[in-house]
Amino acid sequence: MPRRFFIQTVGCQMNVLDSELIAGRLLGLGYEQVESHRRADVILLNTCSVRRHAEDKIYSALGRMKHIKEHRPGTIIGVLGCMAQKDRQKIFRRAPHVDLVLGPGRLDRLPTLLDQIAAGDGPCLEVSLDRAEADRASVGQSFVRFTPSRERRAPGVVSLPHQAMVRIMTGCDQFCTYCIVPHVRGPEQSRPAAEILDEVRRLADAGCLEVTLLGQKVNSYHDAAGPRAVVLADLLAMLHEVEGIRRLKFVTNHPKHMTPELIEAVRDLPKVSPYLHIPAQSGSDVVLRRMNRGYTVGSYRDMLAHLRERIPDAAVTSDFIVGFCGETEDDFQQTAVLVQDARFKNSFIFKYSTRSGTKAAERYEDDVPEAVKRRRNNELLAIQNAISLEDNQSFLGRTVEILVEGPSKAAKKQGRPDDISATLQLVGRTCCDRIVVFEGPPTLTGRFLPVVIERVEAFTLHARRAD
Ligand code: 5AD
Ligand code: SF4
Repeated sequence: MPRRFFIQTVGCQMNVLDSELIAGRLLGLGYEQVESHRRADVILLNTCSVRRHAEDKIYSALGRMKHIKEHRPGTIIGVLGCMAQKDRQKIFRRAPHVDLVLGPGRLDRLPTLLDQIAAGDGPCLEVSLDRAEADRASVGQSFVRFTPSRERRAPGVVSLPHQAMVRIMTGCDQFCTYCIVPHVRGPEQSRPAAEILDEVRRLADAGCLEVTLLGQKVNSYHDAAGPRAVVLADLLAMLHEVEGIRRLKFVTNHPKHMTPELIEAVRDLPKVSPYLHIPAQSGSDVVLRRMNRGYTVGSYRDMLAHLRERIPDAAVTSDFIVGFCGETEDDFQQTAVLVQDARFKNSFIFKYSTRSGTKAAERYEDDVPEAVKRRRNNELLAIQNAISLEDNQSFLGRTVEILVEGPSKAAKKQGRPDDISATLQLVGRTCCDRIVVFEGPPTLTGRFLPVVIERVEAFTLHARRAD
């Protein structure tokens, strides 16, 4: 009987992609994927370290899994991803029933390690050397430095039918003081453009219509290997030529790399979505400096004004952290003003969570009380939600084209999402990443379709099929 694996993913799209690639790899090796850890021989948790809350949830999930090992001792429990890289031995100390701790740069090794553990070789830990360790390491040890693991996409591995994520760079060198990512995902490394082009061509040949390019700082993409350096604007132009691909998106951008050249590429290449996630993080210069973001509120506003002038219908989204070390009420009010002025399509708002190993944890006191963080979070959300709703209201009565992604979560819960004769609630997205729900048969999945917007909420447009 084939070995059955279950994989649970938390965190960002990088992790979602990593899990997809892992699943593809294991399926190719004859494993079977199951939807519940109860039926699995191999339980994999792909983890996130960006905020404490995500880690706490994993540790309590691991705690609950102790009894699984008691009932079925042969079950392999693996912790993958950023938390594995960050916590290492601590995971075994807190959850001794874990068999495998595997960092995000070492995922290639998963099948081999699973075989070794199944053969009785005992628990296993593999992570990349962190930057300081790598500097101290001898030449012989260099194989464990952060290296971008070769993407090996098994055929048919896509996010949703007709949609795929493609990693174009790994790591981050910005070292925002609050952020654990540069420590757990390593230095910035861009994938060769030719390799990306090849992957996108293969995806298109297999029926993929929409590709989302991923990178922690996707717009600092830089492939210097060829006779002429390839930056993101060039890469978009190359991928734009791939027949079959209808939409290209990219996340996440850093404001300081949002060059006029890139903005022009978005404007001039019709397949590139005018949807841009450009996290501002704060509206206060003092806080931005303390965060080491590398720009001022003024330069962010200038970039945004330039972008809006060139692409008036662009949908811009942002992230904000409230309650960062030393954030005063006045700093926060400046953030509120930025959110008012910038008219983001939406913003993700996070309460600052101190991460050991970061500069902020070392240098600054986490001095904003939890209740104040919560209040600022709610206040900012209320401002943003009102803007999102207002923004969506401009869509009322309009016909927009969407790519149908499939049955909505609600339809899946009601059951029978695979009944092709049924009329279900389906979800699609506009080119500017707005979520649209409408009624239709699931056979519409993967089709571009005009729909008429009839009702709007802050995060969702409700539509009917255009006649
Ligand atoms: N605390 C809270 N939010 C954080 N983010 C990154 N690190 C932290 C932290 N320590 C947020 C940033 C980033 C998003 C992915 O997560 O806003 O853009
Ligand atoms: Fe983290 Fe800043 Fe790099 Fe984004 S740019 S991954 S927030 S260090």
